[in-house]
Amino acid sequence: MKLKKIIWVTAVAATVVATVGSCGVKREPGTIYMPDMAYSRAYETNALLDSSMFTSSEPAAGHKIFYNRRPVPGTMERGEIAAYTLPNDSVGYRMSAGVVNPLGPLSKQDSAEAARLFNINCAICHGAKGAANGPLATSGKIGGVANLTLDMYVKMADGTMYHSIHYGKNNMGSYASQLSRKQRWQLVQYIRALQPKPAAATPVMASAKTDTAATAAKK
Ligand code: HEC
Repeated sequence: MKLKKIIWVTAVAATVVATVGSCGVKREPGTIYMPDMAYSRAYETNALLDSSMFTSSEPAAGHKIFYNRRPVPGTMERGEIAAYTLPNDSVGYRMSAGVVNPLGPLSKQDSAEAARLFNINCAICHGAKGAANGPLATSGKIGGVANLTLDMYVKMADGTMYHSIHYGKNNMGSYASQLSRKQRWQLVQYIRALQPKPAAATPVMASAKTDTAATAAKK
């Protein structure tokens, strides 16, 4: 009987302690049993930083932990195409021929997107088919628009096209701030689709693949 009573009293006491202990504001827990679980050690992006420990001002960085919530310079998004680093001069232009298009063949969806981008950004000069007959070219407002279906552009390396889309060339402006790297490379591929194929009429299907690979390797 006595033992039963002790168990009963202990149970009630434990319940009271647990109930009272868990009361209060959720953000300010009472007794913290495991602090690491209550307070994250990770830098929470939107959490208030303790100004006695952290600083976002670079001159004060030596005394406190410097943390400005920005990515470290040079970091890039996962899967992002690396920055284009060739300079905007004649040497960079020549070297651009060796830059390989990092994208594989466009999916149907990507092709449709590239066509949309071309019609918005480029067709006004180059024309929807790339033949230099867009309204700005035919009106004479912009001179020297490149007919991208000509042999010299068929032979032009992907990297050189990208270089000119990135930096602009003479009467054509730079598209680096309007289009992402991926979009610019997609446009290069789209121009390829507008161009006459170099040996397109070859009826020998078996060699078609090898031909394309050989042409790509030369570029
Ligand atoms: C304002 C008119 C205009 C627009 C818009 C324009 N271009 Fe051009 N583009 C030109 C002219 C002019 C040239 C010829 C530059 C030269 O060689 O003097 C050219 C040349 C080019 C070349 C050949 C580059 C080279 O190195 O010779 C490519 C490739 C090209 N454009 C792609 C594009 C793409 C892609 C877009 C859209 C994102 C675009 N252009 C938008 C006017 C334009």
